[in-house]
Amino acid sequence: MSNVIPIKQVDLTNQPMVNFNEIVSYREVLSTKEIAAIEHECSLYEIRPAAAIDALQIVQNERRWISDESLYAIANMLGMSATELEGIATFYNLIYRHPVGEHVIHLCDSISCWLHDYQTIADHLRKTLKIEFGQTTQDGKITLLPNVCLGCCDKAPALMLDGELIESLNIELIDSLVKRLNGVDNG
Ligand code: FES
Repeated sequence: MSNVIPIKQVDLTNQPMVNFNEIVSYREVLSTKEIAAIEHECSLYEIRPAAAIDALQIVQNERRWISDESLYAIANMLGMSATELEGIATFYNLIYRHPVGEHVIHLCDSISCWLHDYQTIADHLRKTLKIEFGQTTQDGKITLLPNVCLGCCDKAPALMLDGELIESLNIELIDSLVKRLNGVDNG
């Protein structure tokens, strides 16, 4: 049986410019490991599209971000439209639709953190990393992103680094985090 599945045509009106309207086999895009992991997640749900977030995370874990090609392949594999999957991917701020660095810092910019010296921490991060929010350091190591409340308002200000929640931030803690990233990466 052919593994080639026609990608559904989508209405791109008012949609981001994703233009990959051709027949593609997800097996030509996704690795065996990715496909096996996604199939496992699908087996846990009644319908395949329910595994969308898991599938996006599986592919992102391997590739750091979700390219248009990956998005279409995953949608293809789950039997849903690329538009539906794009809506899910862009809703969750931990799914990256643009390339990111080896490490991603999400700094909370919601109310409790604002009231607990957010601006000092944000300014220090921007100055130390020499980037603005939404950018990646020149060496490709660290991406800095804003984030809505991380759910630990009693320990504001807070950030998430590669999925690890780091609370009660101060300048010294930021400096040690950045050193840790560079130290680990420099071996
Ligand atoms: S406002 Fe920053 S953790 Fe809630």
